Formats: sequence, structure tokens, C-alpha cells
Amino acid sequence: MNPRVFVTRPLPAGGTDPLVDPDGPGPACDVVQRPDDEPLGKDGLIGTLDGGFDGVVAVLTERFDADVFAAGKGRLRVVANVAVGYDNIDVEAATAAGVVICNTPGILDDTTADVAFLLILAASRRASDAEATLRAGGWAGFHMEEFLGRDVHGATLGILGYGRIGRAVARRAQGFGMKVIHHTRTPTGEPGWIGDLHELLGRADIVSLHVPLSPGTRHLIGRAELAAMKPTAVLVNTARGPVVDEEALAEALEEGTIYAAGIDVYEQEPAVHPRLLAAPRTVLLPHIGSATVETRTAMSRLAASSVRSVLAGEIPPNALNPEAAP
Ligand code: DGY
Repeated sequence: MNPRVFVTRPLPAGGTDPLVDPDGPGPACDVVQRPDDEPLGKDGLIGTLDGGFDGVVAVLTERFDADVFAAGKGRLRVVANVAVGYDNIDVEAATAAGVVICNTPGILDDTTADVAFLLILAASRRASDAEATLRAGGWAGFHMEEFLGRDVHGATLGILGYGRIGRAVARRAQGFGMKVIHHTRTPTGEPGWIGDLHELLGRADIVSLHVPLSPGTRHLIGRAELAAMKPTAVLVNTARGPVVDEEALAEALEEGTIYAAGIDVYEQEPAVHPRLLAAPRTVLLPHIGSATVETRTAMSRLAASSVRSVLAGEIPPNALNPEAAP
């Protein structure tokens, strides 16, 4: 019998091809792909798995905990998340259940860094306010002091989290003649490292977040951190919504504690805090950091080939808990 793989949502064309590729590894999989492009709740996931699948290709809207792994009934061996972030998966519970978890590192760094830079530019130069005014018929012609923003070139960029995506943003910043500083808990040994978060926040003109979501990074940017930033500073978040206290951010924008924000991710997606929706000098995107045809296709294919590899008895380099394999 061929391994059975459940794909939780539609993926870009060709995304699941590695599961059925006759050139292997291992036997081709029987694929059941859900046509419904809405998140599958916990009950739906439990009801679908019910011991009937060896692998799952999942999207970050699906949450995997011990109950879901229990629904795998000892048959489920691998879940691959079509995302580099995996805060939707309890990896410890997966390991206890003998389920290998894979993510998609390395292939969305530049695409996500492009969107971080898009937000850096759009928020600093007030592109959303200016365009909204024009579209609403409110532009009465050139005025010397209308829509004045802040320069990006020559500014100091503070990067929080200096992994692959943070570094890809730093590379772009060099082209804009920016001074780049970064903060990580452990020293990187590289120029620009600042060990004290508040010191970095006080020095940066633009702060861009690139940390994974974990208990240690939840609300990493709250009232105190926003107060430590310059009143002329811009905050950009393409990492995970809960890294920022949205209520505190909206308040800081309303009160002018910081100048502007560019946000791609939210605490309660798809809901956006109503105060943030109404906040001034704010550019809001709907979680599109990795959203290009090329990158989302590559992510889907990597997730699918990871499931195929694990089911063929291999451990791919993007397995987060290889110890879960038999
Ligand atoms: C990720 O990969 O974690 C992004 O948020 C979605 O592509």
C-alpha cells in the first residue's frame, strides 16, 4: 500500500508534485488534498487524520498539538509546514508522538526581505497615506509640505534577530547607504552587534523585526520598548504578529511616541486591531512576506519533498526534530 498524505489546503500549481514523482525516493504517495482554502480547525484536523494518514503537508493556519498527533494513531510519521516559522506546531508533542516536523528554511529569505524593505520605504515615505488621499480625490496638487516623510538612505537600521532574513534585509540596506546595527541575545561577533535591546531601539531610525515567535519573543516590543525608540523612528514587522503588542503600538502611533509603522503580520490573524487600522502613518499588508509565485511554489515543493523523504526513511536537513524518527 502506498503511503497516504493529507494536504490541508490548496497550494500553487506543481506544489505537491514531489509526492507523486516516479523518481522517488520511496514509493509514490496517495495524496488527499483539501480543496477548501480556509483554515482547518482542530476538530476538522483530528476528524480527518483519524489514523488514516502517514504524512501531512500543512499551512501555518493549521495548529498541531498533542491531541492532533494522537489522532495520527501511531500511523502519522511526518508533518511538513509550508512556512519557515513553526509556532503553529508543538514540536515537543510531535517528538513524543514520533512525528518528524519539517519547515521551509532558506528559500523565502530574499522574498521576505524584499517585503520588509517595501515596508521600510512605504512607512518612512508615507506611501499609503499619500495614495489613499489621491485615490479619494483629495489631492489638490503639489504642495511643498504635504506628505513629508523621513529619509531611508543614510538612516540607521536596527535589526532584531540576525538570522537569514535579517541578514538579507541588512544586505539591501547597504545599497541605500544605511548604517546597520543588530541585536541578538548571544553575540554574533559581527560589526554592529548591540547586546542591549533598549540601546539598539534608542539608536535606530528604523527597526525591523526578524525573530521567530516563542515564549521569549511574545510582546518583545511593548510599551517600554516603543518608548525607548526615537519619536522619528519607524517600526517594521514581517516576523510574527505577537512579537509586537498591537495595542501598545497603536497607542504609540496615535501619541507620536514613534513616527510610523509597516506591518505584515498580526496578533490575531486575520483580525487586525481596530486601533491599528485607524492609526496614523501606518502601512498594513496581509501577511504577504513570502507571497510570490516562485517562492510559494518552491516552499510547497520543499514541504512535499520533505514528507516524501521522511516516508522513504530519510531525514531531510530541514527536519526540526530528527530524533522523532524511528
Ligand atoms: C513563514 O514562512 O513563516 C511565513 O510567515 C509565511 O511564508
